Amino acid sequence: MDKIVIEGGRKLRGEVEVSGAKNSALPILAACLLSEEESVIENVPDLKDIATMIRLLHALGAKAHYEAGEITVKPGRDLKPVAPYKLVSTMRASVCVLGPLLARLGEAEVSFPGGCVIGSRPIDLHLKGLQALGADLQVQHGYVIAKAKRRLRGRDVFLGGAFGSSVLATGNVMMAATLADRKTLIENSACEPEVVDLARFLRKMGAKIQGEGSPRIEIEGVKRLRGARHRIIPDRIETGTYLVAAAITGGDVVIQKSSPEHYNALVDKLTESGVRIEKKDGTVRVRRRGRLRPVDATTLPYPGFPTDLQAQMMALMAVTPGISIITEKIYPDRFIHVSELNRMGARIFLEGNSAIVHGVKQLSGAPVIASDLRASAGLVLAGLVAEGRTEVRRVYHLDRGYERIEEKLSRLGAKIDREKE
Ligand code: EPU
Repeated sequence: MDKIVIEGGRKLRGEVEVSGAKNSALPILAACLLSEEESVIENVPDLKDIATMIRLLHALGAKAHYEAGEITVKPGRDLKPVAPYKLVSTMRASVCVLGPLLARLGEAEVSFPGGCVIGSRPIDLHLKGLQALGADLQVQHGYVIAKAKRRLRGRDVFLGGAFGSSVLATGNVMMAATLADRKTLIENSACEPEVVDLARFLRKMGAKIQGEGSPRIEIEGVKRLRGARHRIIPDRIETGTYLVAAAITGGDVVIQKSSPEHYNALVDKLTESGVRIEKKDGTVRVRRRGRLRPVDATTLPYPGFPTDLQAQMMALMAVTPGISIITEKIYPDRFIHVSELNRMGARIFLEGNSAIVHGVKQLSGAPVIASDLRASAGLVLAGLVAEGRTEVRRVYHLDRGYERIEEKLSRLGAKIDREKE
């Protein structure tokens, strides 16, 4: 297994290009199943999760081929309805084939995704939404077995859970509703840019959708959809990770090819903490010279502060003089990185779903274990500013969601390598 090895202490300088958004690409690849025809998806990042989605499309009987950032998907006529445990267990986002399969085939058997290290992650909202459209759902032998006797039928669906809206549940129900009879109204739909990107792709396929990006999405079902070509939006979480990397090292970095309108919550917090951020001609320059100031952040559904940047922000707070607080309102247990950061000399205390971070002068490099994708990114950022050598183990988490991270950080001047254990 590989590990990432970092010698901390270098200020990052230069330019970095952002890749396409993983969390946009995954449901959009699933949406391709809604038509028999070929779709072409551009700007797809080369990541392990994308490779898993391609394997899943193959398992369902679709043709899918990745080359130079572009995926061609041809589902054809004879799709199979079963998404096997082997694939779903390695990637929860596989659950987003449920809606498309059900809408196109009238049946789907998708392995029930279990919990994961960031929390219990239920799928009740996905099931509630599909049931409202007329699906008969059962859980048998670890699989969700969904059947629709006739064409799904549009209805009003309220998709609010204890933690607010759900990105993939909104996607699943929206995809299923595109081929349903009549109109569906999804209330409390997720407003994330990835949902908007999915709606735009579906519209290119011929779907009738309005209101994406708001908490009320309306879908007028159509009889069939065609194949389409679509370019994935830039990854706002990858972008945010590089913004924090520049800030934590006291560097000066220009971010190319991002969508600044998608990460205002982070820009707001970084500015409050003393980081200078300038948006100009489609690029974003981030630099820091002076001391950092403590800030508090609460993770919330979009446009609030994203949970997927919580660990990275915590690394920054760990070296910010004073006390900062992070409250996690999406995944109350997403704090496994805390003990690893503390191994590096951070002083972070957990109190319910809040982390109280007492900034220290200096972190010290150490071997640490990555527990999930974003936690890994937080540890890498801590390693960039720590004194001495940090080894981040279980790098496969990082490879699920960051395209060539060590190469991009090296180009910015970081001393970072991938080594075999
Ligand atoms: N929830 C329910 N019931 C459901 C679904 C979700 O209660 O049926 C709860 C969750 O437990 C959580 C909240 O709703 O408390 C939000 O979860 P959501 O459904 O929005 O998460 P998701 O759609 O499964 C996507 C991203 C995650 C990201 C979350 C929140 C993809 C593939 N995944 O997951 O990304 O953290 O939205 O923004 O889009 C990552 O990239 O590292 C990652 C985990």
